[in-house]
Amino acid sequence: MARVEDVVEEALRLVKPSQEEVNAVNEVAKAITEMLSGEVRSLGLEGEVTLQGSVAHNTWLPGDRDIDVFIILPRNERYIGMVKSGELIRELANALSRRGINWVMNYAQHPYLTLAYNGFNVDVVPCIRMSMGEKPITAADRSPLHTLYLRDRLRGLEDDVRLLKLMMKRIGVYGAEVKVQGFSGYLAELLTIAYGGFLNVVKAASGWVPFRVRISLTAHGGVRFNAPLVVIDPIDPNRNVAAAVSLDSMATFIAASRRLLKYPSMVFFRDVAPVPRPSVTAPTLVIYGDYPRGYVEDIVWGQLRSIASSIWNIVKRDGFKPVDIGLYTPQDRYVVIMITVEEAELPPLEEHVGPPVWTEESDVFISKYIDSGDVIGPFIRGGRWVVIRARRVRSIKDSVLRGLKAVGSGVVRDSLLRGEVKLISSVAQVSELPPEIRDSALVFMSKRPSWLTKPEPG
Ligand code: UTP
Ligand code: MN
Repeated sequence: MARVEDVVEEALRLVKPSQEEVNAVNEVAKAITEMLSGEVRSLGLEGEVTLQGSVAHNTWLPGDRDIDVFIILPRNERYIGMVKSGELIRELANALSRRGINWVMNYAQHPYLTLAYNGFNVDVVPCIRMSMGEKPITAADRSPLHTLYLRDRLRGLEDDVRLLKLMMKRIGVYGAEVKVQGFSGYLAELLTIAYGGFLNVVKAASGWVPFRVRISLTAHGGVRFNAPLVVIDPIDPNRNVAAAVSLDSMATFIAASRRLLKYPSMVFFRDVAPVPRPSVTAPTLVIYGDYPRGYVEDIVWGQLRSIASSIWNIVKRDGFKPVDIGLYTPQDRYVVIMITVEEAELPPLEEHVGPPVWTEESDVFISKYIDSGDVIGPFIRGGRWVVIRARRVRSIKDSVLRGLKAVGSGVVRDSLLRGEVKLISSVAQVSELPPEIRDSALVFMSKRPSWLTKPEPG
């Protein structure tokens, strides 16, 4: 079996960008900040155009084509208003159009621009100047302080951050967006500093217990948080940098760390094609509709998640045994929910347990069922009234549709209601799904992470 140090050595070759790529990224980054500085000045704005994120920190992954540029604006009412309303970014967008530069407007807490520039996607984010100890006015305001904090502390650890980001990406937990509910780039950077390198992060994580990990890089410990993972932002003790990390994302990282140390292998770093393994398949209902175009990804995924939890609850209440629920937006073409249950069809009758015979409620229960033709009972068992009655919902499809209708309205719900529902009971049936959905279905039905492989013998 390979030694973990040898695997890390090999993985390093995947994460270290070539000198040419470093030069190309730095050149484009320099050109774009200079160009934007010029535009900001010509518009008569007092903004400082700065490089932030992984390009500024030198922790980007080879092949990444994202550059983060933040425009830091004075902390006064005029600029705060212009940033929040989007007026400032609209003025800048118009100026860029006059130069023939393509952009799209995006919406997070406030509007920002994404430009296509020399083959790169450049996020241009306005923010309000914040000093240490001040409250941020917009969610973007902390970033320049992050870069300042990391500058000296990250030196020499850049490739360790890259290894950590790649591993997190491969096991599906990289990114703080609602879709992933995982680790942000800044969180990967802080963990690397806190433990002093990639392998030390993995060793620490292999001993983590959710809700019992709290990391603070500064003397003042920060406020109390109730979250699976707590990492206090060294520049703002009121912020948990790991707030987005869900229990299952944390658990995935813990489990993968334990496996990597025990059975070192490149599966944690390589893009492993999903191997459809299921020879036996539990019945899986697939419900899909068109992806709602023009909506912010976090909104779409927020709705998907709340629909999924509603479906899960109703399906359980209807007497099914749900095993797993999966959400997918393949190629941003469809919104898809898959749910696996032990049985897709329930028997015609169900037992319904009533109140103890000595309580007031027992009279209500008896009068409800005494005249009912299709009811067996009521009879007494274990001190309670019990009936056997006809089941209202017998097929998983009906139950899932009930769950879907039970959530508040929204574009995702509407799209799913207009869409299709298919019950898949065998691997062969996956071919009945649209081509874009088949891979996700195989991954979901195989029920095993790609990195969970049998250790190589020897
Ligand atoms: P990015 O999401 O682009 O992350 O956010 P990154 O650090 O550049 O990592 P890559 O691009 O995946 O390699 C840019 C900056 O925005 C702030 C951080 O300051 C980060 O450096 N940010 C972003 C957060 O603080 N939290 C987030 O969830 C996202
Ligand atoms: Mn970035």
